[in-house]
Amino acid sequence: MLKKRTIIISNRLPIRIEKQHDTLEFLPSEGGLATGLGSIYKQDDNIWIGWPGYIPENENEKILITEKLAEFNLIPVFLTAEELEGYYEGFSNEILWPIFHDRLPYAIFDKEYWRLYKQVNQKFCEATSQQQLTLKDEIWIHDYQLMLLPQMIREQHELISIGYFQHIPFPSEELFRCIPWRDEILSGLLGADIVGFHTYNDTKNFLNSCLQILNLPNTNNSVISRDRQVFVEVFPMGIDFDKFDSLAQTEAVQKKANEIKNQFKDLKIILSIDRLDYSKGIIERLQGFETLLQKHPELREQIVLYMLVVPSRDTVPQYKALRDEIDRMVGHINAVYGFNSWTPIAYFYNSFPLENLSALYVAADVCLVSSLKDGMNLVCKEYIASKAHRLDGVLILSELAGAAKELTDSININPYSVDSIASAIHLAIHMPVDEQRKRMKKSVEIVKKFNVFHWVKIFFNRLREVKTRQKKHT
Ligand code: UDP
Ligand code: G6P
Repeated sequence: MLKKRTIIISNRLPIRIEKQHDTLEFLPSEGGLATGLGSIYKQDDNIWIGWPGYIPENENEKILITEKLAEFNLIPVFLTAEELEGYYEGFSNEILWPIFHDRLPYAIFDKEYWRLYKQVNQKFCEATSQQQLTLKDEIWIHDYQLMLLPQMIREQHELISIGYFQHIPFPSEELFRCIPWRDEILSGLLGADIVGFHTYNDTKNFLNSCLQILNLPNTNNSVISRDRQVFVEVFPMGIDFDKFDSLAQTEAVQKKANEIKNQFKDLKIILSIDRLDYSKGIIERLQGFETLLQKHPELREQIVLYMLVVPSRDTVPQYKALRDEIDRMVGHINAVYGFNSWTPIAYFYNSFPLENLSALYVAADVCLVSSLKDGMNLVCKEYIASKAHRLDGVLILSELAGAAKELTDSININPYSVDSIASAIHLAIHMPVDEQRKRMKKSVEIVKKFNVFHWVKIFFNRLREVKTRQKKHT
């Protein structure tokens, strides 16, 4: 008997391959999509199709990688250097990413990028069809790199269940309209039965684009496209709460957290963790921190900004430039304000193993998220979960991150205002413990309840409801 399978498809697999000294290393991928879904794909006969982050040097290497990944239910889609340049660096990260994060001037509308974006979406479609799909399978496509895929699969499998979830924001119709291939992108997404976003605002923007660009009106959060009703709904993503909560309480993590605290002795630790990305507001955060040191000289030798930036997309010019600017600003702040043995910013350009991240969350007095635009932001939820057993710590959260809609007990900031960042840090480090606990308790309840398993459950419940409804109407 054929079993029901969930087939997850995303550009990046949760495991990325790197060659180090002639040996292939299988490492965990970074970024909210991979870390968030990492806890759910291993069950039953489920599979995950995606790019393993590496170009094999020969056929043997391809076979070896394919066999090794199969042990984890992962199916690789190999991409050529040309495809990576045009589809991944180009169309995905020099057109879609900047437009979807409100950076129109960063977009480069190159026709060649579009050709390769279509080609790679087609490649993913073929890799999916090779899995001998049946109507029992449920296909779950993730994120902006694969916006044409829902319709491509639909053309081959008219009745199959297809869900699409977007981990990044959907821009306003005025901004989305600037993309020369906007009609094709919307039509691609409308091949799904459900199109999901993190926030209500994203669904509103998407529905408005369908109306203004494709002339498709909407009723009750749905659009009729090619005689099929497509639902557009909000599913705020959660994290594996228990994993972060229990990890934080292990002896190994507690020991590491104490070591970090001892390293910074009596300093209050302000933590930030993000991928290298202009959407994360790293420069604005540094400006806010500098403003605080200027306004409150008494805080010097009392605080430290522990800033972890994870390398990301460093082949894209805007990312390279951002890295240089961060280096420059960190150097400047440490040189101008540091004295005696005190260094205001501890900066790491690296990726850390999970245990070390957990120890940082436990040790930090404040977690500072200053995204200028962010689909959800899982780092702040991981911080909350890691504080669940002690309830100390303060979250400063950008009002422009999707998570701000849920974590209303954090200190909200406008990340474009350096004064807002500076006064939020001031407030956070002086917040009485009772107040910290009261706020943290409420946030913990939310992160615990709306965890990643809940998210998956409500998405699939809805997909099944929608399919049943479609069957009744045919
Ligand atoms: N992360 C990681 N390694 C690191 C630092 C961070 O895997 O060294 C993870 C972090 O735990 C989180 C994810 O990267 O789960 C970042 O997700 P978020 O939603 O905050 O932002 P995104 O990178 O998806 O834009
Ligand atoms: C964000 C995106 C993901 C992406 C991740 C890491 O979380 O929503 O789709 O995988 O960043 O970026 P990368 O380009 O390295 O895959």
